[in-house]
Amino acid sequence: MKNTIVVGAQWGDEGKGKLVDVLAEQSDLVVRFNGGGNAGHTVMHAGETYKFHYMPSGMLHGKVCILGTGVVINPKDLLEEIKSFTDAGHKPKLWISARAHVIFPHHQLIDAKEGGKIGTTGRGIGPTYSQKASRINLRILDIIADNAQERIKNALKDVKDILIYENIFTEKAYLEYCASISVEYAEYGKTFKPFVTDTEDLVRIAGNSDEVVLFEGAQGTLLDLNYGTYPFVTSSSTLAAAAFVGGGAIPGVPIRILGITKAYTTRVGEGPFPTELDGEAATNLREAGHEYGATTGRPRRVGHLDLFALRYAIRISGIQELAMTKIDTLALVNGIKVCTAYKIDGKEIDYFPADAPTLELVEAVYTDVPPITDLTKKEWSGLKHGSKADLPESIRSYIKFIEDFVEIPITILSHGPERNETIVF
Ligand code: GDP
Ligand code: IMO
Ligand code: MG
Repeated sequence: MKNTIVVGAQWGDEGKGKLVDVLAEQSDLVVRFNGGGNAGHTVMHAGETYKFHYMPSGMLHGKVCILGTGVVINPKDLLEEIKSFTDAGHKPKLWISARAHVIFPHHQLIDAKEGGKIGTTGRGIGPTYSQKASRINLRILDIIADNAQERIKNALKDVKDILIYENIFTEKAYLEYCASISVEYAEYGKTFKPFVTDTEDLVRIAGNSDEVVLFEGAQGTLLDLNYGTYPFVTSSSTLAAAAFVGGGAIPGVPIRILGITKAYTTRVGEGPFPTELDGEAATNLREAGHEYGATTGRPRRVGHLDLFALRYAIRISGIQELAMTKIDTLALVNGIKVCTAYKIDGKEIDYFPADAPTLELVEAVYTDVPPITDLTKKEWSGLKHGSKADLPESIRSYIKFIEDFVEIPITILSHGPERNETIVF
């Protein structure tokens, strides 16, 4: 297998975790390059359900796992995640970038105050990346330093005014916070020190050798800070390009860019969603697909497949092939449509609007497609040899319709959450 970047091609939760778990079997290193604990990647295998927030989903195959420089890390949450995997008998082989930024409790407190109108996950992602860009945040290398406590106290001085002004802390509470958090985070630093390195070097050396590197994106292209539905986006880049900036992928070394899309569309949090369903139709699809957030448990907003948005995501992220998930879910609902154009004031537009209020105004233009055949698990497993010609006509024509519209092939079809419920064409 070639080095591969896996990215979400919608608004997140497309099934990246499942596909990374599948592809990790033939990979040597699995690298997360963006986001933090806002990600919730689910892998189901042998009846067990695993939720990954930090750890790359390739961990179950015992592969070398890397948290790259573009990731923001809450050490407490990461430790808990590692413990839950070690308690379950796994032995994570983890390396953490010395340059990755650290999420502190005050970032979460600011997020809780300010993130409401976006509907953030509340994990402190936005405040951490914004203080990174303001050059006042600490990195993993700071909390593993011998003088970590001093570094933490100094950094907290830089944010004191913000915390008091925002009524996050009183003066007294701020002082108590400084005293306790500097001790707590220096302890995390001691725990993590043996696992911290220049991860870029590991990725570069592997990428220039015969080893296969799999880059695991978090969130989805439409949540990208620059090209997503701003301001209803996350605070890092979610494009395949972010694997170069935040994960150490090497420009010039051939790489496959695989986008993941559901057979329909979902979104968590606020923001425009042109093909959103409501009422009974939404409830039916949500329940059929168990569409509840892996990180926050929030009900996901659900809608028809939006090919206009998907084509934009493919172009903006340079996606070369698609894996489509949840075709089994689509088979459980009626009235399947796909959006093939956007209209504003009755006129078709030929661009994906950058302005969120404009995107709210678009009218989705739909094409009806025949109902998807509901196959039993046994029938699905009979199709394992990976030829599109073997698929029932309804699924074959759904795939063909999508491929013709977005002009790239669907090379993987996922028909259930388990690792083996996957057909590679
Ligand atoms: P991620 O954030 O992109 O990794 O996706 P999530 O794990 O947040 O959400 C995807 C959900 O869909 C998870 O519950 C997966 O177990 C589930 N899933 C993935 N692929 C399929 C599929 O083909 N069919 C069904 N029914 N569920 C799937
Ligand atoms: P995975 O990796 C779905 C959404 C939040 C909110 C916005 C900003 O599992 O696909 P943030 O906490 O990042 O500041 O929230 O982005 N969001 C996600 N939605 N899946 C995710 O990750 C998400 N990560 C963030 O719901 O709308
Ligand atoms: Mg998710």
